[in-house]
Amino acid sequence: MFKRNVKCGEISENEIGKTVIVNGWIHRKRDLGGLLFIDLRDRSGIVQVVVDPKNISKEKSEEIQGLKNESVVGIEGKVKNRLEPNLNLPTGKFEILLQAFEIFSKSEDLPFNQFSSQEVDETVRLKYRYLDLRRPEIRKVFELRSRIIQAIRTFFINRDFIEIETPILTKSTPEGARDFIVPSRLNKGKFYALPQSPQLFKQILMIGGFEKYFQIARCFRDEDLRQDRQPEFTQLDVEMSFIEQGDILKLMEEMYKDLFKEILGVEIEIPFQRVSYVDAKKKFGSDKPDTRFGMEIKDLTDYFKETGIQIIRDGMKNGKVVLALFLPGGAALSRREVDDLKEQMTDFGLNGFIDFKIKKGEIISSFSKYLTEKEKSGILGTGQPDNLALIFVVNSKNGFDQVGRVRILLAEKYNLVKKDKFNFIWVVDFPFFAYNEKEGRYEAEHHPFTMPKPEDLEKLETDKEHVKALAYDLVLNGNELGGGSIRIHNPELQKRVFKAIGLSDVEVEQKFGFLVQALSFGAPPHGGIAFGLDRLVWIMNGGTGSLRDVIAFPKTTSGICPLTEAPNEVSKKQLNDVGIKTENG
Ligand code: AMO
Repeated sequence: MFKRNVKCGEISENEIGKTVIVNGWIHRKRDLGGLLFIDLRDRSGIVQVVVDPKNISKEKSEEIQGLKNESVVGIEGKVKNRLEPNLNLPTGKFEILLQAFEIFSKSEDLPFNQFSSQEVDETVRLKYRYLDLRRPEIRKVFELRSRIIQAIRTFFINRDFIEIETPILTKSTPEGARDFIVPSRLNKGKFYALPQSPQLFKQILMIGGFEKYFQIARCFRDEDLRQDRQPEFTQLDVEMSFIEQGDILKLMEEMYKDLFKEILGVEIEIPFQRVSYVDAKKKFGSDKPDTRFGMEIKDLTDYFKETGIQIIRDGMKNGKVVLALFLPGGAALSRREVDDLKEQMTDFGLNGFIDFKIKKGEIISSFSKYLTEKEKSGILGTGQPDNLALIFVVNSKNGFDQVGRVRILLAEKYNLVKKDKFNFIWVVDFPFFAYNEKEGRYEAEHHPFTMPKPEDLEKLETDKEHVKALAYDLVLNGNELGGGSIRIHNPELQKRVFKAIGLSDVEVEQKFGFLVQALSFGAPPHGGIAFGLDRLVWIMNGGTGSLRDVIAFPKTTSGICPLTEAPNEVSKKQLNDVGIKTENG
């Protein structure tokens, strides 16, 4: 084999006059009056090879000339200075004069040129993913991903954590999605579930005395896919014993500080900002607040209690609230622009808003004459001289969320988001229960292994709406990066919580009997957290495009892998083996 002794991108002064062997893909060919120029590419870069028919046989010359782009070859030749250097290429001052070559594999005509800027459907790109992966900018994403994982491992290992793998063929771990299930051949009629997270195993590792665990863990969730979700994804999963919530938050802050410094050279300030779930909803209309811009929601309900503006008065009679957003610089918008914005409000389930322009501290609006002094002081709000105040009359239940989405729209539309910022924020004091409207029952907002706040324990059965959890989420630039909680370590309390979410004793025994039993043989106080590693890499890579871009072989939004065409049908025999009959027999 023509085994390389130097890489394409590493050809330098040192090789001048020497005979070298390079291996790689034919990136480009140019035939210039008898001389053939080949750009040969490997992972390190590109070098120019010159084929002079005088140096090889006619047959050989035709053979190499006939190769299509992306064919793989080994080339032996002498390195010399290039007459016309190409300053855009690191090796652009040199070229290799071909003396001999070996064809390793020939490429067919390509379905698309992965190096051109032509628009190609993503499914087609994913079908031929290996072509796209040859692009340096795509490879760089996976180099980044690998460095991030390496840095995380080093951080935890240096702090005495043990990395442990937990099973993939297992039992349902409820994290709010459907399970992927796998039929068992040896136990016909029974199924494994792929883990939605290693949650129960990591708790059991704490009961097993490990005290500090982490894992780069693959998780599986059969849920409707979005830009920031994949059915199969990776978590950085962490659990610790004999700790309190503050210890976990602090450790994670240190990890992110080190990680961003090492990988991006960015200084992250710690401790991160903290906001309670209730305040996050009130100020940002979201439990995933993007704090790279201000524009917090202001509740002006009290200011408008006795308003003369009829639409507001009517709304308030029906129990609605008055919320305001102040768009900085918005006073400069034209009437037309404001009206266009109003029309867009239907996308958020809103009828519109009442707008007040604030110019030089004066409120300019057709409603001005109806405003009381108190209302004026509310509308002048943040005191910015050139605001546009948008006043929404909305339901108290979902109005904050609706206005929160408008906040994001305005920030994107008027470029208020500081794109180069990394704003971490902890959301704490989550409600313990969430009411599932469809099923008409309460379920655990985080998961049912979470510890309720001790002061709320007495409300578990009687006042579910007001039970808070020792649960926390980490949000980065408006994305939920991770979440965790302090866990229940007392079997009686665990049973009580299962009951509170409507599980019968039989169901508890069937689903979680092993956990309750483990808790009854000496469980340390423990807690942990898990982060979406794909989401982290995605944000650290610039946060554009989709999560698919940072996964080597992602699934499409319909859950298909275009490369392998999974999921596939299986043979009757395979089904028989696992005891499954289809409708057609
Ligand atoms: P949770 O369900 O909040 O918590 O998941 C933790 C983080 O995992 C990421 N994530 C996803 N990433 C890509 N695709 C998905 N489908 C997907 N689903 C979740 C998110 C999320 O914040 N066991 C608990 C953690 C704990 O309590 O320690 C858990 O899994 O970034």
